[in-house]
Amino acid sequence: MSVENLITIDGPSGSGKGTVCHILAKKLGWHLLDSGALYRILAYAALQQKVALNDAQALADLALTLDVSFVSNGSGVDTLLNDENVGDKLRTEVVAQAASEVASIELVRSALLARQKAFLQQPGLIADGRDMGTVVFPEAKVKIFLDASAEERAQRRFNQLQDKGFNVSIAQILSEIKERDYRDRNRAVAPLRPADDALVIDSTTLTIDQVVDKVLTLTELKLKISTE
Ligand code: DC
Repeated sequence: MSVENLITIDGPSGSGKGTVCHILAKKLGWHLLDSGALYRILAYAALQQKVALNDAQALADLALTLDVSFVSNGSGVDTLLNDENVGDKLRTEVVAQAASEVASIELVRSALLARQKAFLQQPGLIADGRDMGTVVFPEAKVKIFLDASAEERAQRRFNQLQDKGFNVSIAQILSEIKERDYRDRNRAVAPLRPADDALVIDSTTLTIDQVVDKVLTLTELKLKISTE
């Protein structure tokens, strides 16, 4: 399909990307690609099937054959692997670390490329990730890079975990965030960076609604669609 109705949103974890993308997809009635979930599912399947996380060819083969689907459930999206809902299992620290490892392998990234491109369907797509505007959909007319200071992202993560009843140290969260940022921004393949034609939004002092409004204003300007 044409690239008219396509918005890419890249940025580091904790920038608010996931929430912003869900709200936008709902408001516009477009599809949503959560590309991070694909890397997490691959990592989860590799851990389950005892595929070594440095075996590029075996991981790429697994990526090509994964039976994955994302199904709306009214309030959100269920992530199905072989018809099993694995949504909660993907959010653990073990899977996050493994996802970050497999995501740094070029063969894996190219194996997941066609699967990601296939999400671009009528009536439109919000693509959430690290390389949506640079690698997967370089042709997109609306590209956003959503950032926030590491301290603010750590505070958001800390609040989320506290709300869930976890007793965590903000200093530890901040150091993990800085470590992951460094790896994401400095890896050889598809490093995290704004596309040259992306609008960079710093969400450090913005609410989610303010970010959504900014993206919609830009989208209306560039795509001439009505978001009323
Ligand atoms: O956004 P997330 O935390 O669910 O992403 C999981 C991992 O996958 C993270 O280490 C970054 C990586 N990732 C990536 O390399 N490219 C993407 N387009 C999306 C995620």
